[in-house]
Amino acid sequence: MSKPKFSITTAIDYPNGSPHLGHAYEKVITDTYARWYRLMGFDVFFLTGTDENGQKLVKTAESLGKDTKAFVDENVVRFKELCSKFNISFDDFIRTTEPRHVSAVQEFWKKLEAKGDIYFSSYEGKYCLNCEAYYTDLQSPDGKCPEHHTPLDLVKEEGYFFKTSQYQSWIIDHIKSNANFVAPDLSKKEILARLESEPMRDLSITRPNKGWGIPVPGKPDYVIYTWFDALINYYTVSEPRGFWPNNMHVIGRDILWFHSVIWPMMLHSAGIPLPQQVYVHGMVLAADGKKMSKSLNNGVDPFDAVAVVPVDSFRYYILRAIPSNGNGAFVMEDLLKRHQSELGNDYGNLLMRVVKLARKRVGDDYKNNNYKLAFNFDSFIADVKESMEKREHHRALDRIWIEVNAVNGYINDQAPWSLKDDQPESRQKFLEVMYNGLYGIDVVTQLLAPFIPDTVAKALGSIGKNIGVFDSSAKNYTLSDPPVLFPRIEKA
Ligand code: ME8
Repeated sequence: MSKPKFSITTAIDYPNGSPHLGHAYEKVITDTYARWYRLMGFDVFFLTGTDENGQKLVKTAESLGKDTKAFVDENVVRFKELCSKFNISFDDFIRTTEPRHVSAVQEFWKKLEAKGDIYFSSYEGKYCLNCEAYYTDLQSPDGKCPEHHTPLDLVKEEGYFFKTSQYQSWIIDHIKSNANFVAPDLSKKEILARLESEPMRDLSITRPNKGWGIPVPGKPDYVIYTWFDALINYYTVSEPRGFWPNNMHVIGRDILWFHSVIWPMMLHSAGIPLPQQVYVHGMVLAADGKKMSKSLNNGVDPFDAVAVVPVDSFRYYILRAIPSNGNGAFVMEDLLKRHQSELGNDYGNLLMRVVKLARKRVGDDYKNNNYKLAFNFDSFIADVKESMEKREHHRALDRIWIEVNAVNGYINDQAPWSLKDDQPESRQKFLEVMYNGLYGIDVVTQLLAPFIPDTVAKALGSIGKNIGVFDSSAKNYTLSDPPVLFPRIEKA
């Protein structure tokens, strides 16, 4: 039987500098869900990439005295390094300057044009170059960008427009009648409130061609507006691989409008099925609770963070400490604490003491001799699955930790080290308790695989298993001493 499919995407990042913590956060979340669905037996396709056609890349390159292409290429290398450093298991990395994207975008344009949804006109509005977006008076009563708090530029230009206004009530209906299309609920409410607050203007979808961007088919004086081109990346790559529609777009709340309103309208106009869900994560804030910014110098470089702690400690921390449905501060001291106490003491020591004691007194082959099982993991597994399906990965980790501590508590209560080998009954009890310890570790560890994959590969290796499709049955184990998974970190 063929496996069910699941496809998932990150936003594509602006390679306007080195990747920041927000980029690392989004990629880790997306990777966790990709790995989760692989663990659940799905055929997963995971797409990430870079958004390279915007005018702001030209401006930044210019300000640094660099050629735009060379500047972008340089930064894209850093984004790829981020992926490999943080163990991001993507299947494809799209750069929007690649020919496969350019031609797909032009084809897409032609579909909307053929439908009669594109027309020529002129436009005047308040523009933020950082967002590459116009803002209405309602959104920006003070003339400042609501995201960046910088003055908006009054821009007047001629160009082509996409008839978004005619799809406004359609998208409201779609969001309302597909309960999981926008998650979490907070984001759904936010987008509906905006959609219901004022009539939409048609979207300006071209800019004058100044030598950077995707030319409009048949109109070489214009390039396609960067958001219009960027959104199409998901389709460009997924469709030819048989993974359209995507099941899950993972994005931050600052780009919710484009993903839950503009993108569905573009697809609807082109007669293409819509993605199943837009999942919106919160923003990672600085330790002081403010937005990370260069001027406040309150940011943390993701590469610096993982020079201090293992990547899995970073992953675990941001996935558990920042709620999946809200913003959260990144506090290095908290990360270090969780590394030490939760990962090192609760989990790492459990594995270490059980495997070592079992090897010492039983040997490397630990057979499942139909021992009485102390744990019934059914409701635990169901709870973790439910949290992941509700896109509440922090709750999934909370729940897994209850079980890590339950296995720890069981071992402490049974005190297998005090069960001696010289009495058959006590030997039998010892074998049973240790088997249960190993079995508990097995199940809990498998469910941790999406979150801390490196650690899990090592931990499962020490009981003779690999990361595969989740299997909660009791098995035979082949033991070897685990490496120290979370070494103590002396405070610098
Ligand atoms: O918006 N915390 O690119 P981008 C969490 N190219 N997430 C954050 C964050 C933070 N502090 N800062 C940014 C773009 N992000 C477009 C996307 S998709 C077709 C085009 C998230 O590099 C942000 O919300 O500015 C977005 O999802 C992603 O990082 C890329 O942001």
